[in-house]
Formats: sequence, C-alpha cells, structure tokens
Amino acid sequence: MARTPMIAPSLLSADFARLAEEVARVADADWLHVDVMDAHFVPNLTLGRPVVEAIQAVSPIPLDCHLMIEAPERWAPGYAELGARNVTVHAEACTGDPRGVARDVRAAGALAGLAIKPGTPLEDYEDVLRDFDTLLVMTVEPGFGGQAFMAEVLPKVRRARELVDTGHLQVLVEVDGGINADTIERAAEAGADVFVAGSAVYGADDPARAIAALRARATAATAG
Ligand code: DX5
Ligand code: ZN
Repeated sequence: MARTPMIAPSLLSADFARLAEEVARVADADWLHVDVMDAHFVPNLTLGRPVVEAIQAVSPIPLDCHLMIEAPERWAPGYAELGARNVTVHAEACTGDPRGVARDVRAAGALAGLAIKPGTPLEDYEDVLRDFDTLLVMTVEPGFGGQAFMAEVLPKVRRARELVDTGHLQVLVEVDGGINADTIERAAEAGADVFVAGSAVYGADDPARAIAALRARATAATAG
C-alpha cells in the first residue's frame, strides 16, 4: 500500500535561544515536533504551554506536541486549544483510561496521539488505540535527543502497520528517536508514516536538505 512519509523535525535539537529562526529553517517539513518534558515523567525539562503558544504563532507548519509529562489528562487539552495539530500523551503516564484524554484532545480540535516507550507492549493498548488518531512508537528511551536507534522496537511498528492495513486501527504510525539517514529506511519498511528527527535535521548544515534526503529515503523504502 503506497504511503506518503511525513517528516517531523524535533525542536529539541534546535537552538532554544533562536526558536523563531529555527522553526523557519524547517518550513519544508510536514509537522514540527515539540517535546514537552516535565522532569518527572522523564529526567529532563524543556518547555511548556507559554513557549509552545509562542512557537505556534510563528510556525509555518502544524505542531506535533509530544508530552512526556505526568498527569497528561490535565495538560493535554491545553495544547490542542492553542492550535496544535496533534497532541500525544504517554500511555505509561495516564492514571486513568487514556481514551478520556483522546476524547478531550479531539474535542479541543486536535488529533489525539498515544505514545509508548520501548519496553511497553503494544498489545496492552490495541483496543484503546481505536479512539486515537496517531500512535507514537518510541525508538529510544524518552528524555534526550541524539540517542541510538533501537531496532528491537521495530516489531511493534510492523504490528501497528498490520493493524492499520487490516482496518483494526486508523492511526498514523509515528517513530521517534535515533531516526537518521542510516535508520529511516528500516523504520519505513516496518511501516511508519511519520518520522521524527531531531539531531539528524538540526545537526545538519542545511536542515532543508536533510529533510529532503530523509523524505527521499523513506519514500524509496515505502514504495517497494
Ligand atoms: C526524545 C524526544 C525526541 C528527540 C529525538 O525523548 O522525544 O523527539 O528529540 O531526537 P533524535 O532524533 O536526535 O533522536
Ligand atoms: Zn519526541
């Protein structure tokens, strides 16, 4: 089945002192991935709603907010309200049924995403995912950019692809962590639709060229 890969540069690897310029450098991408970390769910702290709102105001492309925070049910709708296209919460952080968060995020006007860490089984969420629009399969432990891609997670991407292709789920399958020119083909072959790339885009001399190269590789791997 032909799929059009989407590239989502992660702002985590950008220069935080020049956010507006850094956003403008990736205008050719499909989504801008924004990592929200609270120093509790993950051992790192990034930015929150006021900064995301400022980014939303200048971004030429839709925001893909990845919330690595505790109590996501409390905070996720706020990111949808400010205009994010997709708001993803971690399954492991939800205290109640994640479907409640999906409902609230959708009601606030965004796509609802569910993220799972490398060690979290997909089977546990196959039913719940029927109420979500995107599934984020982490291919590193969440918290930091620049980590090595975990190929052992790819069976979950394959399983998710199968669930979508057989009509059991209607989600975009997103991969996040260690995606670069060497790994994107494997993730694309396994069935991912959306490719988050932080260091591979912002670490390049020319982010626009890096995005085009990643897209070309994912397209070639998907076409087969
Ligand atoms: C990690 C974040 C990622 C990160 C990816 O917890 O969720 O989005 O920015 O960075 P790279 O692409 O460098 O692995
Ligand atoms: Zn992320």
